[in-house]
Amino acid sequence: MAREPAYTDKQLAELGLSRERLAQHIAIIMDGNGRWAQHRGLPRIEGHRRGVHSVRAVVEECSRLGLQQLTLYCFSSENWKRPKLELSLLMKLLRHYLVEERRLICEQGLQFRVIGKTEELDPAIQREIKLTEDAARGNDGMMLCLAVNYGARMEITEAVQQIARKVQQGSLSADAITEKTVVSHLMTSGMSDPDLLIRTAGEMRLSNYLLWQISYSELWITDCCWPDFRGSNLHTALKEFAARDRRFGGLQKTTEGPSSASA
Ligand code: IPE
Ligand code: IPE
Ligand code: MG
Repeated sequence: MAREPAYTDKQLAELGLSRERLAQHIAIIMDGNGRWAQHRGLPRIEGHRRGVHSVRAVVEECSRLGLQQLTLYCFSSENWKRPKLELSLLMKLLRHYLVEERRLICEQGLQFRVIGKTEELDPAIQREIKLTEDAARGNDGMMLCLAVNYGARMEITEAVQQIARKVQQGSLSADAITEKTVVSHLMTSGMSDPDLLIRTAGEMRLSNYLLWQISYSELWITDCCWPDFRGSNLHTALKEFAARDRRFGGLQKTTEGPSSASA
């Protein structure tokens, strides 16, 4: 499939969007696959399978909209609590996704990164991640970041351990630790913070996702289950985002975030 051209300002305006008020980085909690399937009398895995179509559509739409980054919550460090059969099917699906989307990621010129404890994943999946990272190296399009076996508390704990080790070894003094030090030890080091966090399927919680990074993200929660989520839902979210008054603790309307991006 050929790379879809980026939207012109005129096309954005037709969608009710403007480049100046577009979110640069969207993070999504892709929830509700199981419920989508159960409502239709289908096995839960069918919801996960359909969810891959939504991933494809949303990645392409975000890239056309000219976003800098899309960070998708694919599998949390707590999702291991699920039944063995669902876990093995989910991992199989992830592996297939990495193989099948590689060509598309390259055709769309996307940058690619995975955050999470990938070393705990099946070696076959680790291999596919590496192959996709290698294939996407040098691309300069939107950054597609997958959170796989990711948990924010684990991420922050590991960052604290790394910083403590440096203090112990004498290469860092405790007084020199700043927010930037913490940011540079997170798995998202070098990335901007999400401007907009979308959660599908209606739950009003964060489920251990990017807890440090979303301090000032705008939240948008929809009842739509992930397998039904498409470009039009994304446009609605972006329109609502554009109307939000982001103050970052101040009083004036601003698009400037707190300086917690890359150190
Ligand atoms: C999200 O859908 C996908 C993953 C967590 C892997 P769910 O599987 O959580 O779907 P619900 O929330 O049970 O409907
Ligand atoms: C969050 O969804 C994780 C992913 C979407 C990968 P969950 O379904 O695991 O979250 P809870 O259990 O409802 O909080
Ligand atoms: Mg869920």
